[in-house]
Amino acid sequence: MGEQVVILGIESSCDDTSAAVIADGVEMSNVVAGQKVHEAYGGVVPELASRAHQKHIIPVVDQALEQAGVELEQLSAIGYTRGPGLMGSLLVGGSFTNGLSLALKKPVIEVNHMRAHILAHFIQNREKSRQIPQFPFLCLTVSGGHTQIVLVKDFFEMEVLGETKDDAAGEAFDKVAKLMRLPYPGGPVIDQLAKEGDPDKFRFPVADMPDFEFSFSGLKTNVLYKLQKGTQLDPDFVAKNKAHIAAGVQKAIIKALLQKLERAAKKHGIKDIALAGGVSANSELRESLTQLGKKNNWNTFIPPFAYCTDNAAMIGITAYYSFLEKNYNGQYRPPMARMKM
Ligand code: KG4
Ligand code: ZN
Repeated sequence: MGEQVVILGIESSCDDTSAAVIADGVEMSNVVAGQKVHEAYGGVVPELASRAHQKHIIPVVDQALEQAGVELEQLSAIGYTRGPGLMGSLLVGGSFTNGLSLALKKPVIEVNHMRAHILAHFIQNREKSRQIPQFPFLCLTVSGGHTQIVLVKDFFEMEVLGETKDDAAGEAFDKVAKLMRLPYPGGPVIDQLAKEGDPDKFRFPVADMPDFEFSFSGLKTNVLYKLQKGTQLDPDFVAKNKAHIAAGVQKAIIKALLQKLERAAKKHGIKDIALAGGVSANSELRESLTQLGKKNNWNTFIPPFAYCTDNAAMIGITAYYSFLEKNYNGQYRPPMARMKM
């Protein structure tokens, strides 16, 4: 038997600082430090995010190593998010990785954040083994920055079948929440509110786009007009109806997502269907996909909550497969705010 492959994964693309240890594909630790500083601003403030990453990165890495019971010398390589993301945030994780790799003389493995969201489905846990999707499978990746339907042919062969032309699904949740003066991030708040609301009381159309493309920017304008009109008649309109509005908006977003996903699955004759990204934490989306999967005889893969939003375990597992397939050059390269799949 060969030596164990031990990877330290580092994630700092947006507003979560995270470090994880993956040993032979198994998660040994996955520590995430979120950032509360952005709540007051209704969105991520890039400069504040970079500063918070600087404050968190060393304690987060220390904790991840300690929880895993791994010493720095035992690492086979260090994986980091090269992009896409906020430049200042990426620079903190990237520079840290570069410094650590030079000091330890260990190879660096760059990771694409969007691929990592998808490959999170391959993380194994210590307690029990997880079912993994079979190639080729489809993944609907829905986060604060992206909305994509991806045909996943292999660990490193992925084709984006379609994506959003403007706002991402998570962004749509966040922007609608902001219009309703709900706290940031709005997705989880709308998810909770919607449980109490009637999704058919207000209807919010979502633009029908060609092929597998999405557009969510019209939705927030539509919501804005409805809120303005309602408030003119009754100043307490939003307060009285927030659960119904949340439920209606959520229903519209999910319908747009799943319609396209079903169409893509039929066109490509694929039965293994996965969900990824922060919005995959949405309870109604999880339930609706499960139902749609039953109807179509799909094997559906819905990530546990810890792997929905940004985390370093997904960076670690992606670096692990790069390491196994020798699909890396070991050198640090500066981050890319925009990075293709
Ligand atoms: O993947 P992620 O953590 O960061 C990005 O890479 O963007 O996704 C964050 C996004 C935010 O827009 C947040 O509102 C959304 O995921 N989100 C949700 C839920 N939890 C997080 N959206 C809807 N329902 C949720 N339960
Ligand atoms: Zn993400």
